[in-house]
Amino acid sequence: MTQLPGLLDTEALRKDFPILDRVVHDGKKLVYLDNAATSQTPRQVLDVLSEYYEQHNANVHRGVHVLAEEATALYEGARDKVAEFINAPSRDEVIFTKNASESLNLVANMLGWADEPYRVDSDTEIVITEMEHHSNIVPWQLLAQRTGAQLKWFGLTDDGRLDLSNIEQVITEKTKIVSFVLVSNILGTQNPVEAIVRRAQEVGALVCVDASQAAPHMPLDVQALQADFVAFTGHKMCGPTGIGVLWGRQELLEDLPPFLGGGEMIETVSMHSSTYAPAPHKFEAGTPPIAQAVGLGAAIDYLNSIGMDKILAHEHALTEYAVKRLLEVPDLRIIGPTTAEERGAAISFTLGDIHPHDVGQVLDEQGIAVRVGHHCARPVCLRYGIPATTRASFYLYSTPAEIDALVDGLEHVRNFFG
Ligand code: ALA
Repeated sequence: MTQLPGLLDTEALRKDFPILDRVVHDGKKLVYLDNAATSQTPRQVLDVLSEYYEQHNANVHRGVHVLAEEATALYEGARDKVAEFINAPSRDEVIFTKNASESLNLVANMLGWADEPYRVDSDTEIVITEMEHHSNIVPWQLLAQRTGAQLKWFGLTDDGRLDLSNIEQVITEKTKIVSFVLVSNILGTQNPVEAIVRRAQEVGALVCVDASQAAPHMPLDVQALQADFVAFTGHKMCGPTGIGVLWGRQELLEDLPPFLGGGEMIETVSMHSSTYAPAPHKFEAGTPPIAQAVGLGAAIDYLNSIGMDKILAHEHALTEYAVKRLLEVPDLRIIGPTTAEERGAAISFTLGDIHPHDVGQVLDEQGIAVRVGHHCARPVCLRYGIPATTRASFYLYSTPAEIDALVDGLEHVRNFFG
């Protein structure tokens, strides 16, 4: 068995994930390499979810009965856990949403409806990058269309990095917001936050970081990032689906207007007007994803029990090994950085002229789950002149043996298509 320095004890960890014992297609052992799409859920989180529904389920912030108080304490306790996990200065800076897309749409709508100095209008510019997930492109396109603001973006280098050579022309005195991904879901690239933040701060622009592919895999410190907003999602970090997070700086959350209106986000309501609750509740209209937040809290406990530094080291070792092994496969081209430096554990590639959907299908027949397509980042495929990629992505329970299985599987794909 291949041993690499820095690996976690996956033999022990994998026992926490019942689904990893699945066999598929008449007895093929599941090799789950689609972790950038969603991670699997450990028993520790499943148990907390069951216990929540079996013992504590009620609506939050509304009742005086025991269950309502317990559910509220669990929901707000999850907020404490998230705040600590990302080193937020205050728990009130943590807004629960349903996913990272909703978090990013919330920022775009806060700015669209804001007063000066935050308001995005036809005299202003919005900056994103060509490597964004659609969830960090479309909300800004909508905002630009609705306000007349100009949408600008950083391009990409041939080796899958951000091209910041024209940073002073892209981020200007007119820029209101720069929104970019910390780790790309398709290229795996980890972006240089500091350089972008420094330039944004020079011109007084706000910074929003999409940390969906970072929060599950590395220590995340919102104070060190020096961003104004950070978005991520629970289901990629051992938590349930239906729960996302938007962290925002307190003074901004106090000043910016709500987006969704409804119950629990108000202070008082009359037939003529309403006043709003303080953040974060101002941004959490309606019954929130309660069980999902509690599940995210349990996922954070689980990740902390392993250690985010150790998870990062494990994935770095796996990525180094995977890049090396994949590059041995004839006709395979990695789309993105071809070293493990400044990159995450999602690796996209093409295999000769075999369509990625065919690659994915033949791998699936061998029990190997990867994602194929444009990965909701179609501009990246356009940039590199390809219709789609195959993507393998690893997590804390992934092993070198699974990478070997992928490489053997790709050999099989090549033989299959002659
Ligand atoms: N954003 C997820 C992915 O990259 C769904 O697969």
